[in-house]
Amino acid sequence: MHKSIAVCPGSFDPITVGHVDIIKRAAKMFDRVIVVVMVNPKKTYSFTPEERVSLVRAATADLENIEVDYSDGLLAEYAREKGASVIIKGLRAMSDFEYEFQMALANKKLNSEVETVFLTTAAENMYLSSSMVKQIASMGGDVGDFVPEQIRQDITKRLYGKDEK
Ligand code: PNS
Repeated sequence: MHKSIAVCPGSFDPITVGHVDIIKRAAKMFDRVIVVVMVNPKKTYSFTPEERVSLVRAATADLENIEVDYSDGLLAEYAREKGASVIIKGLRAMSDFEYEFQMALANKKLNSEVETVFLTTAAENMYLSSSMVKQIASMGGDVGDFVPEQIRQDITKRLYGKDEK
């Protein structure tokens, strides 16, 4: 039987409850969801690839049809290699839209077999971003509402006392 495979790409620097919500919803829609930690060349990361993967693994450990992977290549190629027909992205506000729209078109050009599907964020996560989490944690604030409980301490330990750019 044909299984639907979706990839859910992102920087996940670090993963937040907003990401987990999108991943959970994707897991209900597709047989297999591959959460892939990737590289956005425009970003400088606070967490290493290994750390980002390990935080995503810990945050999604209780979900069944989820796999976690890392790739430093092109998303369109990655989707092709995995036989994925869908790329899942979460959209918060209109400000996300222009960039995401551009990426969706570029990915379609590079891999005509793949469709980008946008899920709207849950209203309570509208404001949430990894950079906000990093800023709060690095200044000693409580990120308990913003990241999954399993990884809260790891993030705080790792970032507290470090300056955020
Ligand atoms: O969480 P982010 O930073 O918004 O995720 C962006 C990411 C990593 C998914 C994007 O930069 C990406 O797809 N990187 C892989 C390289 C690639 O395929 N770039 C071309 C996209 S048009």
